[in-house]
Amino acid sequence: MKLRLEQISRAFDGFHALDGVSLQVEGIHSLVLVGPSGGGKSTLLRILAGLETPDSGILEINGERLGNDEPSLLKHRRKVGVVFQSFNLFPHLSALENITLPLTVVQKKDAESAQQLAQGLLERFELAGHAEKKPAALSGGQRQRVAIARALATQPSLLILDEPTSALDPSMTAEVLDTIELLRQQGRDFILATHEMNFARRVADRIALVCGGKIAEVADPASFFETPKSDAARAFLARFTPNQTATTRLSAARSPDKNGFPQ
Ligand SMILES: Nc1ncnc2c1ncn2[C@@H]1O[C@H](COP(=O)(O)OP(=O)(O)OP(=O)(O)O)[C@@H](O)[C@H]1O
Ligand SMILES: [Mg+2]
Repeated sequence: MKLRLEQISRAFDGFHALDGVSLQVEGIHSLVLVGPSGGGKSTLLRILAGLETPDSGILEINGERLGNDEPSLLKHRRKVGVVFQSFNLFPHLSALENITLPLTVVQKKDAESAQQLAQGLLERFELAGHAEKKPAALSGGQRQRVAIARALATQPSLLILDEPTSALDPSMTAEVLDTIELLRQQGRDFILATHEMNFARRVADRIALVCGGKIAEVADPASFFETPKSDAARAFLARFTPNQTATTRLSAARSPDKNGFPQ
């Protein structure tokens, strides 16, 4: 993927959630956003997904500049697959129907080829036995895998995942992380935000630290975790110890101190 963000800002009621974010990456498959709670990761992901518009700044994805008008945003959204932490699936539809819906409605595929494609995806994510189940009858991990399968069904050029495991308990987290690792091995382009540092390190081609509405550091994972350059990165990483569990890290990251860093 190729990304160019120039001075992206977004305020909510006068509060600068993003305050001049600039970033340029090229020739990578995965960009992972990390940082303290409230730092601006989700806001940035929503803007990258075309679900929200910046107040100012320039955003280019794979050489195409994203416009702020509704038709451009709609066109962009069709090229992007999105997985957020919880609200993903339609509760009244089966796993299979959740995947076929965007294919028949958005892509106007006929029912039979949509079914075939969806079945293939369910098999690939080891969900074939769950095709007829509604989301309430699936485990959290299975639900997120269906959501990822659905996001991939339309063959998006970019997948955006916002804390895809944060609503899951640790035993279900592993299977979703494995699924995302599989995407990486397949060379798919994705941008994701996570509080799981071990996972970030494993799947990132590039890490960006988002805090205080800015990107404080962009680096390859080894440099970021072993030789962070910025004070912000050092302060952020100092909050983690190798033996902390994902759950501890998550709750730690959820209650920032007065400087915006996890306690
Ligand atoms: N729709 C909104 N209305 C008002 N404030 C918002 C809105 N969306 C985000 N914010 C604020 O912008 C800041 C950045 O929020 P954002 O959700 O992007 O952070 P984050 O880095 O994703 O945090 P977390 O790690 O907790 O998910 C926060 O202070 C948040 O309260
Ligand atoms: Mg968030």
